Order: sequence, then C-alpha cells, then structure tokens
Amino acid sequence: MARLGSTVATAVVATCFFCRLLPSASAACHLPPSFPPAETSSTAFFCVDKTAGCCNYTTVQAAVDAVPNNTRKRSVVWINSGVYVEKLTVTKPNVTFRGQGLQSTVIVWNDTAKSAKSTGGSASVYIKADGFVAKNISFKNSAPAPKPGAQGAQAVALRIAGDKAAFWGCGFFGAQDTLFDNAQRHYFKECFIQGSVDFIFGDARSLYENCTLNSIAEELPEGQRSINGAITAQARQFRENNTGFSFVGCRIQGTGDILLGRAWQAYSRVVFAYTYMPAIVAPAGWDNWGDQSRNRTVFYGEHGCVGEGAKMAGRVAFARNLDDSQARPFLDASYIDADEWLKPFDDALVA
Ligand SMILES: *[C@@H]1O[C@H](CO)[C@@H](O)[C@H](O)[C@H]1NC(C)=O
Ligand SMILES: *[C@@H]1O[C@H](CO)[C@@H](O)[C@H](O)[C@H]1NC(C)=O
Ligand SMILES: *[C@@H]1O[C@H](CO)[C@@H](O)[C@H](O)[C@H]1NC(C)=O
Ligand SMILES: *[C@@H]1O[C@H](CO)[C@@H](O)[C@H](O)[C@H]1NC(C)=O
Ligand SMILES: *[C@@H]1O[C@H](CO)[C@@H](O)[C@H](O)[C@H]1NC(C)=O
Ligand SMILES: *[C@@H]1O[C@H](CO)[C@@H](O)[C@H](O)[C@H]1NC(C)=O
Ligand SMILES: *[C@@H]1O[C@H](CO)[C@@H](O)[C@H](O)[C@H]1NC(C)=O
Ligand SMILES: *[C@@H]1O[C@H](CO)[C@@H](O)[C@H](O)[C@H]1NC(C)=O
Repeated sequence: MARLGSTVATAVVATCFFCRLLPSASAACHLPPSFPPAETSSTAFFCVDKTAGCCNYTTVQAAVDAVPNNTRKRSVVWINSGVYVEKLTVTKPNVTFRGQGLQSTVIVWNDTAKSAKSTGGSASVYIKADGFVAKNISFKNSAPAPKPGAQGAQAVALRIAGDKAAFWGCGFFGAQDTLFDNAQRHYFKECFIQGSVDFIFGDARSLYENCTLNSIAEELPEGQRSINGAITAQARQFRENNTGFSFVGCRIQGTGDILLGRAWQAYSRVVFAYTYMPAIVAPAGWDNWGDQSRNRTVFYGEHGCVGEGAKMAGRVAFARNLDDSQARPFLDASYIDADEWLKPFDDALVA
C-alpha cells in the first residue's frame, strides 16, 4: 500500500492544544486550538484524524456513519492531513468535507470497472445525497492507468449524483473516467482534475470555474499526432434535457493529443470559455463517438479561449465558435441556478 501515500506532504508541526485533553492523545495531533468547535443550532462537527486519540474518528466513513440520519443541521466532517485509504459512500444530505489542502488530505481507493463490476461502482467516493460540499481535499483512484485497448480499466475517483454540490479547491486524481459528474447541479471552483480518457463524464449540469484540467494521456513523439485522450464525455440524451458542462477561466495542461470532448450521448453539451488550451488539444477538438448523426445534435461551444490549441481552423464542422450572446448562459453560476443554493466560499476554520 506504500504507493498510496507517496504524494502527500507531511504536515507542519504545530502545538497541540486539544489533544492534551484526551488521555491517549499523542503529542502530534496537529489540531487547531479548541478543536473541534461546539455544536450549534445549525452545524455539527465531526473530527477525523488518522492518529488514534486525536479526534473521535480515525476514518472518514466512521464520521459519516456518526452523522445522525434525520438531522436538519449541516454536518461538517473536518478531516486532518493524511491519506485515508477508504471506499466511501455518503447518503446523508448537507454534509461538508473539510480537508487541509488538496495536497494534504486525500481519500483514495483503487477499484476498477472490472473489480467493481461497473464503472460507477469503481468510485473511491460516491456522493448520493444533496447539499454536499467539499473544501480543500482530494479524491483519488490509484488503480494503474490503463494500457491502450484495456477493458474494464475505468477507475472513478469521485462520483457525484446528489443535487446542489460544491467543490472548492479540490483535487480529483485518476486516469480513465476520473470524475463521474453523474447527475444534478454542481459547482467546481479552483479544482485540479487529472485524467486521460473521458476524465470528466456524466449527465450533470455543472460549472467549472478556474479549474486546472491536467491530462496524463501518454506522451507522443515530437511532431506526431494520434488522439489518445479526451477531457469530457458529457451524456445529455435528449434535446429537452438541460444538462451540460461549462468550463470558464480554466487551464488545460499536461501530455498527449487530446479532445475537448466526445459525444457519449446524442445531445452531449459542453462549452469552454476563456480557457487556456495548449497544443496538446487536437485541432479537431471534438468527436461524435462514431455516430455521424450526432454531428447535428451535440452542442460543443468555444468562446474567448486562448493558446495554440484554441485555434478553430482545424475543428470539426460541428464545433461552434459562440458569440457573446450565445456564450452568456454558460458563463456564470446562473447556469446552475446558483442563487437558489450556492453559498460563497468562507475560509473560516470549518465553514
Ligand atoms: C468527541 O465526541 C464528544 C461527544 O460527542 C464531543 O464532546 C467531543 O468534542 C468530541 N471530540 C472530538 C475530538 O471530536
Ligand atoms: C442510520 O440508519 C441506519 C439504517 O437504519 C442505521 O444502521 C444507522 O445506525 C443510523 N445511523 C445513526 C447515526 O443513527
Ligand atoms: C439542507 O440544507 C438546505 C440549505 O440550507 C436546506 O434547505 C435543507 O432543508 C437541508 N436538508 C435537510 C434534510 O436538512
Ligand atoms: C488495490 O490495491 C491492493 C493493495 O495494493 C491490491 O491488492 C488490489 O489488487 C488492488 N485492486 C485493484 C483493482 O487494482
Ligand atoms: C482552499 O480552497 C480555496 C478555494 O478554492 C482556495 O482559495 C484556498 O487557497 C484553499 N486553501 C488551501 C489550504 O488549500
Ligand atoms: C431528459 O429528458 C427525458 C425525456 O424528457 C427525461 O425522461 C429524463 O428524465 C431527462 N433527464 C435529465 C437528466 O434531465
Ligand atoms: C478565473 O476565471 C475568470 C474568467 O471567468 C478570470 O477572469 C479570472 O482571472 C480567473 N481567476 C483566476 C484566479 O485565475
Ligand atoms: C461528422 O463529422 C465528422 C468529423 O468532422 C465528419 O468526418 C463527418 O463527415 C461528418 N458527418 C456528417 C454526416 O456530417
């Protein structure tokens, strides 16, 4: 299991206040002073630390299990630095995961579509409930990156199917099918999303703002082009569905010769705006998943993007260069009805 922990930095040594109160506490708990805070009428806290004796829970799952089934409160699961080797499902609404930075707090498992018997089942973390929030934490699937043509190697890091979810400063690490943006409305801000093939996929309606999209598709010899990756596989099925992925102010980086998107379903919808696209983005940009009829039904838009890979000249005929008014509905959080539910990021200790 050693390789699971290799990417995480050791936490800085700080004076331990709280752990003095627990008889078995080690001197190395690294909790903030007076922690965890007392429960309030609106919020309850669940403290997780890998070191026994520091917090009430040593696994994230144990803390999630302790969240009362019918609470009206937000349950903040505060997770200290560390690598939590867990496969985890959240079925209770209004849970927040608060990590210590996407390099410091990591939840990781290593199922694949083959070992779990389905792509969705391979998720290291599966969020089924509404109102989920994650801040400054990473979700990882550490299964090996598939060799070209491998079957059943899809390995999801996070699957999100609940409505009104927000991810702030989070990391998503995997290769094929990293982030299963399954269903409902989601917001991703300043996240780091890594993968190779279809690494953001599903049928949600999501806004990705200022995120880094890091391709680990295989590096090709200088000057050679051969498409070997894709950022998105959005799965909108029918004209009347309002789902789609919008990327605003993002940055594409990494290796390979990658597409912006592939049409997993007929009405696949993806927009990239004000996004930096390096030369690893294939000139064609988009793919119809081998179904010519999808040329007429997909909605693949670009607006105000920059970089070598943003040139529209070599794009497939069905790529759209959106003008201001066509792009507008996708450019801000109104795309996901944020005024109905999205709270601003508050960098208080546990908010
Ligand atoms: C552990 O749980 C008790 C009882 O709910 C609570 O009073 C205490 O603050 C918790 N301590 C930690 C470190 O989470
Ligand atoms: C929540 O409900 C499940 C299923 O009935 C039960 O197993 C679990 O103990 C309950 N959890 C709490 C914290 O009450
Ligand atoms: C979850 O939080 C939202 C927003 O505060 C609230 O409207 C909703 O009732 C909460 N859900 C539960 C089950 O408490
Ligand atoms: C996950 O990792 C464990 C421990 O390294 C290993 O035994 C298991 O085969 C791995 N599972 C998959 C699906 O790769
Ligand atoms: C936590 O996430 C916020 C929002 O993306 C970011 O501004 C902040 O720098 C992050 N903090 C840490 C410690 O990673
Ligand atoms: C898409 O539209 C179909 C047909 O109206 C409907 O059955 C389905 O629930 C919709 N799916 C989503 C994700 O909105
Ligand atoms: C975030 O993206 C917006 C475009 O939507 C851009 O104006 C802004 O400079 C970006 N902020 C950061 C911190 O990259
Ligand atoms: C669909 O688009 C592809 C890629 O540009 C192109 O090769 C094909 O001829 C198009 N088919 C139709 C029917 O427009």
